[in-house]
Amino acid sequence: MKKFPPGFFWGAATASYQVEGGIENTDWAQAAREGRVPECGRACDHYNRYEEDFDLAKSLGHTAHRLSVEWARIEPEEGKFDEAALEHYRNVLRALQARGLHPCVTLWHFTLPLWFSEKGGFERRDAPEIFARYARYVVDGLKEECHHFSTINEPIVFLSNGWNRGTWPPFKRLALLDLFPITNSGREYMARYRKGLFVPFLRSLRVFHNLARAHNQAYDAIKEVLLASDVSIVTHIILFRANGNPINTLIARIMNWWWTHRFMKRVYKKCDSIGLNYYIQKKFGDAATYAKTDMDWDIYPEGIYDCLMMLRRYGKPLFVSEAGIADAKDDRRAEYIRRQVEGTWRAIQDGADVRGHYYWSLLDNYEWALGFEKRFGLVEIDYTTLERKIRPSAFVYKDICESNGLT
Ligand code: BGC
Repeated sequence: MKKFPPGFFWGAATASYQVEGGIENTDWAQAAREGRVPECGRACDHYNRYEEDFDLAKSLGHTAHRLSVEWARIEPEEGKFDEAALEHYRNVLRALQARGLHPCVTLWHFTLPLWFSEKGGFERRDAPEIFARYARYVVDGLKEECHHFSTINEPIVFLSNGWNRGTWPPFKRLALLDLFPITNSGREYMARYRKGLFVPFLRSLRVFHNLARAHNQAYDAIKEVLLASDVSIVTHIILFRANGNPINTLIARIMNWWWTHRFMKRVYKKCDSIGLNYYIQKKFGDAATYAKTDMDWDIYPEGIYDCLMMLRRYGKPLFVSEAGIADAKDDRRAEYIRRQVEGTWRAIQDGADVRGHYYWSLLDNYEWALGFEKRFGLVEIDYTTLERKIRPSAFVYKDICESNGLT
């Protein structure tokens, strides 16, 4: 039996926009109205059915749950906070407590209030102050119900998709990416440049810088209202590896620095713990072929071990804030979970101070620019009837949660 430390948190994660439904005042909802991303609509209607969903989580042996609160609901206009929206989340957290589920709240998971994105979002010089003010308000309002808060979910994914690849709001593409390789004719390139579709590298650096400052300032603001809080950042690691070749090893190192450590170095001092989201690996010079998830990502769940060992250097408690597989047929999920849990267990044996594991996701949900087709849930959602159906793999995870280990 591979046992986990006593009191280890077992659960699953969700994010407000992806499951709640009925959120119309965000940059993503606006992008959907413009036909640039799929509509999210009522999603799983988790906003109204959270009790039923938490019943399911409890019945599946979970002892904790990670969720996010929706910034646009709580601060629908600049500087104006909606007390009723916060009361809703207090009720959500009470519902978790009533079921004995430890809550872990992410303050911001990708979607921005429309007023903020329209005024420049994280390109604004005062964005860190705006975010810290919001963080302070939320934590002050929820401090009776929760003390475990993550500030930002995956800042580098947000930056990379929004300002580098240009596939998510605000759809800005790094100018450099279209020079190498040259995919556009000069005229086409200039036309896109004039439309403001390209973003100069320095501007994307400003967003990077502001995201780090936003976390650090939010940390201080949260501590002012709840000193006893556990505040973390949630980092997404793409695991870059190499075969034995020294050049490939060097490339992998540079890439791990570029994707993970460059940002973590800026924020780790203002973290009481660190959340890891792991889905993707890339091994340079690798001859092997991997089975794929429905996202077309390599199936390599054991990479979670390397990621946790990478984060160990920051000397903070860690938790797996997300890891999981899109698998509509549910014929690879059980094995995937066992391997990712095994990797987590090995990291603990080798000295990583891991405190919890949240599978992504409790429910099928809105997978951003890909809409509703990808199925990550332990629980399947029928989007027509909103019926919930527990997938067989959820029971494999249940055994792990209940026995606090792997047989
Ligand atoms: C994000 C989730 C997303 C998941 C699967 C993570 O990067 O935090 O919102 O659904 O990956 O793509």
